[in-house]
Amino acid sequence: MIAEAHILVTGGAGYIGSVVAEELLKEDYGVAVLDNLQQGHKRAVPAGADFILADICDAEALEKVFGQFKIEAVVHIAAEALVAHSMTDPKPYFQNNVVGGINLLNAMVNKGASKLIFSSTCAVYGEPQVIPIREEHSKNPVNAYGESKLAFERILEWYGRAYGLQYVSLRYFNAAGANKHLGEDHNPETHLIPNIIKVALGLGDHVPIFGTDYPTKDGSCIRDYIHVLDIAKAHILALQHLERNEGNKAYNLGNGEGYSVLEVVETARKVTGVDIPAIVRPRRAGDPAVLVAGSELAKAELGWQSAFPSLESILESAWRWHRDHPQGYNK
Ligand code: UFG
Repeated sequence: MIAEAHILVTGGAGYIGSVVAEELLKEDYGVAVLDNLQQGHKRAVPAGADFILADICDAEALEKVFGQFKIEAVVHIAAEALVAHSMTDPKPYFQNNVVGGINLLNAMVNKGASKLIFSSTCAVYGEPQVIPIREEHSKNPVNAYGESKLAFERILEWYGRAYGLQYVSLRYFNAAGANKHLGEDHNPETHLIPNIIKVALGLGDHVPIFGTDYPTKDGSCIRDYIHVLDIAKAHILALQHLERNEGNKAYNLGNGEGYSVLEVVETARKVTGVDIPAIVRPRRAGDPAVLVAGSELAKAELGWQSAFPSLESILESAWRWHRDHPQGYNK
């Protein structure tokens, strides 16, 4: 029996995917989460979503999903997403982000599903020539992760032309923050904000600062941090955009405000009240010096705007979640 119409969220047991799935449910969409649980957590799958344990690299399993559910649209978030790891081991990045993505597109085309929202990244731009970065900026990724996402963006264009696929690519800048019960829990954790908070909670002895010799105001890398709820909101708007038969474009999602690694640590000290120790280490491979978004296009065409633009509010929400879940989803 074919179930009611669903939005299929790949990677919906992960950090961003679970929040997107929950926001879709709040908007009364039926949601099916597909996740291989290699990095995702069953406990993060929101109540009310159907759960499918499957891997996007399994083409047959994907075809079955489209037989089992009536899929109105796909939100494709499942990915390998670690910049530094992609430099030492690019294989899974091209395998999952490109080959797995093609499996998904082929299942969609074969089964007549035509709408897709893709989680892309500011890593497609590489080392920017102009700040803030607008969508038309040249794309020369400096890490295999960004290369894999750019390859998939380009494949989407060809599937759009040939098979009528309608898509929106959302180029997230640095996702951070949490809602009350869904937050960031990776193993190993490599991201800056959860690593800082772990040290504040006494779960680590210091924060490594990967490089203070970049051409920035204090020498550390500058990033544009965006609240995960603002990212989720953009998915709802992108879906509505596709429902109006508009699309086939990429949009940046960021706050347009860059913070250095040292500034993030300093702000976290204020938010947590803990004197978080930090130690300067060598640069991490694959890191551009500065990534700051120009998101005017998402504002103008999707009607998106950030509800939590301040770094303090992003850090406060992450701090709250980690204090409530010091072992992540394990407890
Ligand atoms: N950093 C540290 N110490 C840490 C962790 C990170 O100094 O313990 C630095 C990094 O070198 C980088 C910055 O903090 O300069 C942010 O690093 P993250 O690992 O938090 O995030 P990234 O910028 O590497 O990557 C993240 C996601 C990608 C996404 C990208 C966009 O992992 O999926 O943001 O920039 F594409």
